[in-house]
Amino acid sequence: MKKILVLYYSQTGQLTRIIDNLLKPVRRIPEVSVVLEELQPEPPYPFPWSAYRFCDVFPESVAGTPCKLRPPVCDLDDDYDLIILAYTVWYLAPSIPVNAFLHTPEAGRLFRNRPVVTVIGCRNMWLLAQERVKRIIADLGGRLTGNIVFTDRTNNLIGVLTIAAWMLTGRKERFLKVFPLPGISEEDIEAAQRFGTPLASSLAGEAFALDQGLLNDLGALRVKPSLLIMEKRVSKVFDIWSRFIRLKGGPGAASRRKRVRAFMVYLIAAVVLLAPLASVAAAVLKVLKREKIRAEVEYFSQNALR
Ligand SMILES: Cc1cc2nc3c(=O)[nH]c(=O)nc-3n(C[C@H](O)[C@H](O)[C@H](O)COP(=O)(O)O)c2cc1C
Repeated sequence: MKKILVLYYSQTGQLTRIIDNLLKPVRRIPEVSVVLEELQPEPPYPFPWSAYRFCDVFPESVAGTPCKLRPPVCDLDDDYDLIILAYTVWYLAPSIPVNAFLHTPEAGRLFRNRPVVTVIGCRNMWLLAQERVKRIIADLGGRLTGNIVFTDRTNNLIGVLTIAAWMLTGRKERFLKVFPLPGISEEDIEAAQRFGTPLASSLAGEAFALDQGLLNDLGALRVKPSLLIMEKRVSKVFDIWSRFIRLKGGPGAASRRKRVRAFMVYLIAAVVLLAPLASVAAAVLKVLKREKIRAEVEYFSQNALR
C-alpha cells in the first residue's frame, strides 16, 4: 500500500477542486491511499476580504512571517510515500498558512528524505513563491520532484481586476458583467485529471520518480518572460514596502494603519498606471536580453535550485 499526504490551503475551494480532479486517477488505484490535510489558520483569514485586511496581510506574506495554525488532524508521523503540497500565492509568496506549516517542527520531520510534488493554483505570478518553496523544501531535506501550476488565462491587467473583485466581494461572477469570470477556468480545473496518471504510475515503482519534462509536455507549467521580468521588479518594491509597514507594528496593529493605507493607494496606482508601463518595459527587455531570459525560463521550468 502506498500513501500520499496532500497538504493544502484554499479559501474559495478553487485549489481544493484542482486537487480533487488531479487525484481522480490516483484514487482509482486500490493500492494507493490518499490523506488530505487542510491547513487551518487560527483565527481563519476572512473571505471575502475587506480592502484593508487584504492589504494588511501583505507585509507578513512578503516577509514570510508565519501565522498560528490549528494542530493537524492527520498523523504526520505516518510513513508517507509522497507529499503533495498544494498552495496559492499571496503577494508573490506562498500563502501565509502554507508558509507557516513549512516552518513548523512537524514539517521538518515530515519532509525529510521524502519526494514532494507542488501544485500551485494562483492568478499568474508564482515563480518567486515557488523559489521560496523550493528553498524551504531543500532545507527540510525533502526532494522536490514535480511542480504543476494552474493560473488564470486572462491577461495580467484584467486578471488583477477580476480577481480583486472576487476576493473583495466573495462572488465569483463577471465583474461589471463585461469582464471574464475570475480565477482558473473550469476546463483547466477539470483537465487537472491528466496529471494524475503520471503521478499514479510514478508511485508504482520502488522509488518515487516523476519527470518534470513529461509533466511540462502535458502543460504543467508555463513560464512567461514578461511576467518573470515583472515579478522580479515588483518583488524588490514589495520588500521595501513590507519592511516600511512592519517597522510600525504587526498584523492588525493600529500604529501601522496609515502605512497599510498608503500601500493600498500604491497598489491601485501600480495596477492602473505602472502595470501597463511595466508590460512595455518587459517587452523591450525581452528583446534586449533574449539569451539571459531564455536561460531564466529554462531554470524556472525545472525543480533544482541554483
Ligand atoms: C491576499 C492575496 C494576495 C494574492 N496575491 C497573488 C499574487 O501575488 N500572485 C498571484 O498569482 N495570485 C495572487 N492571489 C490569488 C491567489 O493566489 C488565488 O488564486 C486566489 O486566492 C484563489 O485561491 P483559493 O480560493 O484556492 O485560496 C492573491 C490572493 C490573495 C487573497
